[in-house]
Amino acid sequence: MKVLVTGGAGFIGGHLAEAFLRDGHDVTVLDNFEPFYDEGIKRHTIDRHREAAREAGVDYRLVEGDVRDRETVGEVVSGVDVVVHQAAQAGVRASVEHPEKVTEINVDGTVTLLEASKEAGVNRVIIASSSSVYGKPQSLPYTEDHPTEPVSPYGVSKLAQEHYARVYTELHDLPTVCLRYFTVYGPRMRPNMAISNFVSRCVNGEPPVIYGDGQQTRDFTYVADVVDANRTLLTSGAADGEVMNIGSSDTISIQELAETVRDQLAPELAIEYESAREADAEHTHASVEKAGELIGYEPSRSIREGVEEFIQWYEENQEWYEPLVRGA
Ligand SMILES: NC(=O)c1ccc[n+]([C@@H]2O[C@H](COP(=O)([O-])OP(=O)(O)OC[C@H]3O[C@@H](n4cnc5c(N)ncnc54)[C@H](O)[C@@H]3O)[C@@H](O)[C@H]2O)c1
Repeated sequence: MKVLVTGGAGFIGGHLAEAFLRDGHDVTVLDNFEPFYDEGIKRHTIDRHREAAREAGVDYRLVEGDVRDRETVGEVVSGVDVVVHQAAQAGVRASVEHPEKVTEINVDGTVTLLEASKEAGVNRVIIASSSSVYGKPQSLPYTEDHPTEPVSPYGVSKLAQEHYARVYTELHDLPTVCLRYFTVYGPRMRPNMAISNFVSRCVNGEPPVIYGDGQQTRDFTYVADVVDANRTLLTSGAADGEVMNIGSSDTISIQELAETVRDQLAPELAIEYESAREADAEHTHASVEKAGELIGYEPSRSIREGVEEFIQWYEENQEWYEPLVRGA
């Protein structure tokens, strides 16, 4: 199968592209290496892709280009079976500072890709959405029919993406699936996220810093589970036209997360607190029943198990990853 992964140099797209290559698919990555965080992490990912392609004996192509560029997108979509769309300006806080940029990349970029996918007659477009579409919880865990009232420009852009996907399915019979990821973590994760921050600070004997009182609770998703969901959707039409939560269905408070990391790495450190950040969600918690029913999705780890695994990976990869993650 020929798969296009947009944003394939990034954290999640990088894992997806590598898994697809190892599964024996030909993969094209489209990524403009947006300087949102250190490019070195992305270059490392691309090296892994090349190695995976060599080992699996499949074709790999990296196109350094923009998902908003019609000509490039038309060219890379041609001949592709499935499009896996991860390219985005991620991050709630960045979206508060630069709402126009988020709209251009996340909304205009998605429409350009959907249009090209329609023209090329691809079998399916799988789109990375986000738990940020929900906004303030009226009930938890979030089921997919929970009201969507995003509280950040990022959440609005992800919701707009979902609506465009639905409209392309309804108007043009283009099969689309939107996956609402709940904060994803794991090897090569983006800097400036709670888990990477806590681990990196504690490893270096610096106290973990919590923004707010730490009582916010989060559902964190291990990246391998995100890979499994996308992998199933390459060949399954069971969720065409649907949006689905992809989470761990487990939660942890930020306080407990900081304590878990601190206790494992530097028990002598006292946790520090700074004021809460604008537009951050108070609580997230995914119901994954729908994804379970439609594609057999099942989270593989509890958050505590996943965090332990991440700490181990961090320590093994500290030499190259740390300067990049801390320089961000
Ligand atoms: N990481 C999470 O916790 C999380 C949670 C919910 C949803 N998501 C979504 O998952 C997807 C992947 O997120 P991530 O954490 O891997 O982020 P990331 O920033 O690591 O990856 C995004 C990639 O997209 C690329 N990109 C950005 N603008 C582009 C453009 N105009 N053209 C081409 N490429 C472009 C970037 O260079 C980057 O490599 C995003 O759509 C994000 O909104 C992520």
